[in-house]
Amino acid sequence: MSAEYKRRRTFAIISHPDAGKTTLTEKLLLTGGAIRMAGAVKAKGEARRAKSDWMKIEQDRGISVTSSVMTFERDDIVFNLLDTPGHEDFSEDTYRTLTAVDSAIMVIDAAKGIESQTRKLFEVCRLRDIPIITFINKVDREGRDPFELIEEVQETLALDACPFVWPVGMGTDFKGCYDLRSNTFMMAKEGATCDTFVQCDGLDDKKLDDLVPDFVLSPARENAELAAGGYTEFDEESYQAGHLTPVIFGSALRGFGPESIIDFIGQFAPIPRPTPADLREVTPDEKNVTGFVFKVQANMDANHRDRVAFMRLCSGEFKRGMKLKQPRTGKDVMVHSPILFMAQDREIAESAYPGDVIGIPNHGTIRVGDTFTEGETIRFTGLPAFAPEALRRVRLGDTSKIKQLRSALEDLAEEGLVQVFRPNIGSNWIVGVVGILQLDVLKSRARQEYRVDIDFEPTPYMAARWLKSDDSLALQNFVEANKTQVVTDKEDNPVFLAKSAWEVDYIAEKNKGIEFQKTRELS
Ligand code: G4P
Repeated sequence: MSAEYKRRRTFAIISHPDAGKTTLTEKLLLTGGAIRMAGAVKAKGEARRAKSDWMKIEQDRGISVTSSVMTFERDDIVFNLLDTPGHEDFSEDTYRTLTAVDSAIMVIDAAKGIESQTRKLFEVCRLRDIPIITFINKVDREGRDPFELIEEVQETLALDACPFVWPVGMGTDFKGCYDLRSNTFMMAKEGATCDTFVQCDGLDDKKLDDLVPDFVLSPARENAELAAGGYTEFDEESYQAGHLTPVIFGSALRGFGPESIIDFIGQFAPIPRPTPADLREVTPDEKNVTGFVFKVQANMDANHRDRVAFMRLCSGEFKRGMKLKQPRTGKDVMVHSPILFMAQDREIAESAYPGDVIGIPNHGTIRVGDTFTEGETIRFTGLPAFAPEALRRVRLGDTSKIKQLRSALEDLAEEGLVQVFRPNIGSNWIVGVVGILQLDVLKSRARQEYRVDIDFEPTPYMAARWLKSDDSLALQNFVEANKTQVVTDKEDNPVFLAKSAWEVDYIAEKNKGIEFQKTRELS
């Protein structure tokens, strides 16, 4: 058992759209032997790129059910790659997925450097000290100076960087990549894709002179030497604590990098870590099974309202058919047909270990944030809900369908698709989302799965904050005095709606005893 979880490496890829996450995912799966052919992951990337076309998003969502977790085994290590939605409108999903991984790969486009979405996602990793591998992609194209890119990582993210793989030429001069630690030169002999690994004695090895023209090799040698000696030395502990990042230059498209990334993860990336819970910390070597749900996804089949809850195991050995307790409801759930995700194929899992993710089919009884145990009443903490950035009033065309509307909103809110608020005054629900596309999905799914047509009306509100205070009287008074702007969320927490970020600051300043929270832990 203890050997089993120590073999697990559970990780995700974070990036700004178009940096190359899909391409890298596919190449990692190919390198790890998990997929038979290229193309499957790419199809998803293409679907995603057609941003305004809802059918395409639907398609994307369907495909991502099967590719949400990709597991492969190499050199006795089990790699669990958790996929995150590419579109930034679904970034909430990404944030939650990051609570279920032990490390991450940050993909940066060599021509662009660190972009907004990379930075946001990085901050989420930092909150939990998730160690990061930096992959600087597309060196086969003209890009920025490698030293400048490393500086940017160090400065904007406040991380120590340690170059592992250096590019030999870039753009049209690109000849390959050099692994500074193993002294391996990676090159493409037959075509454009990396197919040859040349073991060298060092950067001065004469073999290189025969393989790379001097006008590329000379500066590359000089720079690689500078890079090898000019930065913080690699320190495993510092990497695992999230302070240092190894930097791998490469080209996902042409297969430079995936091999080095997999090797690095196998050797250095953290094994499943202890998970914080409300009453105590749960360690992966404990005998009893525990886990938490970080994502719930509806199935493709619109006629069946079945859902798959993705649970990360935190301790114990899970066996198929096990009865698990859901402390939130106090009920037991029999997990008859858990799904273990093997690239695109689903298989019934017989057993799973800490670090693994299993899919639990259900009909809406499991929510994002749920804890499962073998009887203990604890709750894993740290799964965030984010204050919505767009708020709309829901308008129902046919008022006889109020019941359907209620169940659609309740179910889809539990799935984490949208947040639903009840006003203190008036009767129309208000929905809140982080990305506008979530509203399209809500509308379409309400129609398809609940047979109810809804529309959205604008509200004057641009920001929402959860209200919290140790002084319950002060809170009550505030709610009373701001009735029109205070709504309740699905767990009956009061939420303040503001017309601008400025108004939030202003009101918060005037009500010092009350906290205006931008994130909240799911319970
Ligand atoms: P994403 O998931 O992060 O959004 O990025 P994705 O992998 O879809 O890649 C975005 C674009 O960048 C794609 O090109 C892809 O082919 C290209 N790309 C990825 N890695 C590399 C690389 O190492 N070198 C080069 N030169 N290009 C790379 P596209 O034109 O948008 O699509 P496609 O028609 O080529 O698929």
